Amino acid sequence: MKIIAPSILSADFSRLGEDIQAVENAGADWIHIDVMDGHFVPNITIGPMITEAVNRVTNLPLDVHLMIEQPDRYIADFVKAGADYISVHAEACTHLNRTVSLIRDLGARPGVALNPATPVSAVEWVLESLDFVLIMSVNPGFGGQSFIQNSIDRVRLLKQMIDRQNRTILIQVDGGVNASTIREISDAGVDSFVAGSAIFGSDDYKATIKELRAACR
Ligand code: DX5
Ligand code: ZN
Repeated sequence: MKIIAPSILSADFSRLGEDIQAVENAGADWIHIDVMDGHFVPNITIGPMITEAVNRVTNLPLDVHLMIEQPDRYIADFVKAGADYISVHAEACTHLNRTVSLIRDLGARPGVALNPATPVSAVEWVLESLDFVLIMSVNPGFGGQSFIQNSIDRVRLLKQMIDRQNRTILIQVDGGVNASTIREISDAGVDSFVAGSAIFGSDDYKATIKELRAACR
């Protein structure tokens, strides 16, 4: 079962509620929320208040991607706002194990995100505590960038590591996912696909989500 998670970064923020309901009706599985602080990444986006508002208009799980420094300071706020899945960046956490445990203790499902230049081995010793690992296939900060091709190799390496440890952990890919890139990504062993511009930039969300799903074998 492949998970399609539209990233609301590419939604129309002047009618965010309607756009979210539209992707839910179009068959989305999760709603991906990109939180950026202007420090870890050069952009500033959404915080707990908008997340809470998003939670009020959808029944889908909220997948909150924290591209922020010192995420520990905000995890409780995002859980309270309705986050079901929370990913933090390994590069932003001095005590990754502690941060992951905090997410779990507060009642959300923890994931760790890895920038394109971060070795996948960065998660090797926290895998046992994770529900998912997010392989960034663009440098985080903006929607609409091109897929970095060697992300496929990184997914394969991660999958081998997960299999070696005999664990059930979802692999998520985020950045440049569209109808032309998704098949190869899916074949490498990815379970959850974040897509922003490919979905919200199309004029038929349902047809696009269907097309993405059909491209996954
Ligand atoms: C990038 C974000 C992504 C972004 C993906 O920093 O984490 O979720 O919205 O956008 P697309 O699908 O347009 O590459
Ligand atoms: Zn994201």
